[in-house]
Amino acid sequence: MARCCDNLDKWWYVGNTPAISRLGIPSLNMQDAAGGFRPYWNELTGTVTCWPSLLSMAATFDDDLVHTFAVALGEEFRGKGANVILGPSINVHRVARNGRNFEYLSGEDPYLGARLVKQYVNGVQSNKVATVMKHYALNHQETQRNSYSSSADLKTMKELYMPPYMAAIEAGVSAVMCSYNLVDGAHACASSELLNGELKGDGHFQGFVQSDWGATHSTSVTSGLDMDMPMAPDGYFDPSALSAVAPSAINASAKRIVAVMYRMDMFTNTKCAPPNCETYLRTNVSTAAHQQIARDGATASVVLLKNDNATLPISHEYVSTIAVVGAAAVGAIFNPTSGQGHGGWNTGDYYSGGGSGHVAAGYVVTPLAGITAAAHAAGITVVSSTSNDASAAAAVAATADLTIVLAATTSGEAMDRSSLALDDNADSLISTVVGAAKKTIVLVQTPGAFTSPWRNDVDAIATMFLGGQMTGLAWGDILFGVVAPSGRLPIMLPASESDAIAVTSSTTIRYTEGLATSYRASSFTAAYPFGHGLTYATFTYGTPTVATCGALPCVQMSVTHDGGAASMCATATPQVYLEFPQAAAQVAPVLKGFVKTRRLCAGQSQQVTFEFTQRDFSYYDAATRAWVQVAKVTAHVGASSADIKHSIPLPTAVEIEAVPFQ
Ligand code: BGC
Repeated sequence: MARCCDNLDKWWYVGNTPAISRLGIPSLNMQDAAGGFRPYWNELTGTVTCWPSLLSMAATFDDDLVHTFAVALGEEFRGKGANVILGPSINVHRVARNGRNFEYLSGEDPYLGARLVKQYVNGVQSNKVATVMKHYALNHQETQRNSYSSSADLKTMKELYMPPYMAAIEAGVSAVMCSYNLVDGAHACASSELLNGELKGDGHFQGFVQSDWGATHSTSVTSGLDMDMPMAPDGYFDPSALSAVAPSAINASAKRIVAVMYRMDMFTNTKCAPPNCETYLRTNVSTAAHQQIARDGATASVVLLKNDNATLPISHEYVSTIAVVGAAAVGAIFNPTSGQGHGGWNTGDYYSGGGSGHVAAGYVVTPLAGITAAAHAAGITVVSSTSNDASAAAAVAATADLTIVLAATTSGEAMDRSSLALDDNADSLISTVVGAAKKTIVLVQTPGAFTSPWRNDVDAIATMFLGGQMTGLAWGDILFGVVAPSGRLPIMLPASESDAIAVTSSTTIRYTEGLATSYRASSFTAAYPFGHGLTYATFTYGTPTVATCGALPCVQMSVTHDGGAASMCATATPQVYLEFPQAAAQVAPVLKGFVKTRRLCAGQSQQVTFEFTQRDFSYYDAATRAWVQVAKVTAHVGASSADIKHSIPLPTAVEIEAVPFQ
């Protein structure tokens, strides 16, 4: 039984299983996760990197960058003596106001999540730190998280919500954390269908299942739960309770845990057993190299939503003074302050979301600091008004050639957002500034979707999904063209609150929309569509052709940088959405490929190839409980889910040419 944690004793991890010296079994030293190594006590503040959120990493659409980040993350955990990371969080978003959306690497798309989670698992585990995918399953809002029961039809489950889990299994993820909620009336941690059926059966998952903290509600070993974590109401996994379970079932669970220990070299590589881990826990593991990766990640995660008349990048040729306004320009770090370092535990800030995924940074580069440094380097003067007082902001804006408004919100675990609006009346601040400024640029920092009623009135908009401690430097690099933007929306930004699935107060949550979430829902209007992201260049997508890659058809296309007076060298991220024949009962073409090009300069081209698997060409048929491969799809290639440049028919099998008889 695991030990922990209403009041976490020093120097224990957030989750611990004791070493068994008689058998040479090491302790499991487990720590959260989402924004980096969770600095539980104040003494640990500043000894870890506060990374961009996993939703920010999703916005990079960049396999290599996610891998680099994950390797560094694993190094920090290893340096801290942890041998398990309680991540990645990979649920495909359903509810836009879910307080934990910033934690999820999948954004709103199963393909995106499946691609990136492999990089995360491989990267972290290259350091022999075991990964735990979570929160399984159908855990999509925090309101009543211990008591609601979600239900999705089998097709929706398989096609929309399971793929990141299956991809993580393929990549060798070590464990899964079952969630607080119920699914079809059964607690997720006691659902044989979910644990024995979906994961260990269909998914051939060889790792172990652990409960979320307090999510065990019975001695559900035979239902597939291998490890009970703390905070459950009573001892469901106490020796007395376990004595009623068949020894073979207990052995099977133990084997799964010990197998992970072997695979992650824990027998030889576990650095310490709590409470003797103080030295490791106190070690500063945040190196300059890691901070550079955090900066690169934040910069690559910036999504440029709008840029009328090439307002960005800012150049000293036409701008001599900029105004930076809004309280979020100097957003403070939230650092839990109680004796346990656990006070206000689910409060977030504008750099890292709240709850178990929060990393209270030792320092952050605020937007104002980062923008000021970059402006000065470009020979530009900065004036500021760092509150949301609209008239003060307007007065400053009137003195500048261009005004940058910082607007933000945050969220945290155990609580959903009350709306998709930005904090402190930022909407009215922006509207007032527009009336006073020559040009207005809005920079948004959020844990997920937000509404933007002012979007048609401003000149440029860029967003970051809680970018970690290097946030200000990332803004500086993007605004002044040190780096061209390359982020893409991993979610749809809704035109209004009603263009997203709402939080429900009912404890019975039926996913009646099926596959129709995000860009797949024709009833929703996007302010900015899934996959969207501009840069300081435009690209021409050549006519795609069908080729053969290995044993399967693939799509090839050239991407050419258009050149143009104000353009910079930049990357493109062409995406492919596959449309299935009617039998597949799809609601829209779905993402099945993207390629991040290298940095292309004026006139340069790159040939990109979209490769597919047989599963990419298949739909799930609930009636026969089987994946069915279709014979032909239509490939829509474009710059976002709503900006399709070319569509071509794509056979899903390579036609074998008849070889003439000799
Ligand atoms: C969260 C998990 C986390 C655990 C340990 C729970 O409240 O849901 O994501 O890993 O706490 O901190």
